[in-house]
Amino acid sequence: MDITTNKKERILFICLGNICRSPAAHAVMQHLVEERGCAGQYEIDSAGIGNWHVGQLPDQRMREHGRRRGYSVDHHARQFDARTDFDRFDRIVVMDEENYRNITSQAPDDEAREKVIRMADYFTQHPHSTCVPDPYYGGPEDFELALDLIEDGCKGILNS
Ligand code: 4NP
Repeated sequence: MDITTNKKERILFICLGNICRSPAAHAVMQHLVEERGCAGQYEIDSAGIGNWHVGQLPDQRMREHGRRRGYSVDHHARQFDARTDFDRFDRIVVMDEENYRNITSQAPDDEAREKVIRMADYFTQHPHSTCVPDPYYGGPEDFELALDLIEDGCKGILNS
C-alpha cells in the first residue's frame, strides 16, 4: 500500500503461456501476502504472452508441485493486453529475457516500460541465476527449480 495515496500495489506476473511460471508466481505471492497479513494492500494477477492456453487452468504438473508446497495454483490463463495492463499495474514482473523483450516492445512510453522488471533481479538465494527457466518441456526437477526461484524472487520483491 502506498501510504500517501492509500492505493493498493498492483503486481502482474508474466510468462510465455500463463500455465506454468506466472500462475505459480501469482499463487506464491498471494500466499506470502496472506501469510504476512497484508493481502489487502496488494492486487496480484498473471498473464501470458501467447494465447494458446487462454481460459485453461495451469499445467497439471505445476498445480501438483505447487500444491505440495501449500500453494493453490489455480489461475485461469489470460493473454497480456498492452492496451489495459500497462495502466492497470504498477509492476509487471517477467520470468526471462524473451519475456522482457516482448513486453517492453509493447510499452507505449518510458513510464510503461519502466514498470517491467525481471524476477531474477530480486533473487537473494540464487545469485547466479539470471531467469526463471521455462519448465514446460522439462521434468519434475525443472518444476521444483522454477518454484525455488519464484519463492526467492517473490520474497525479494515483497522485501524491496
Ligand atoms: P510458461 O510455460 O510460459 O511458464 O507458462 C509454457 C507453457 C506453454 C507453452 C510454453 C511455455 N507452450 O508453448 O504452449
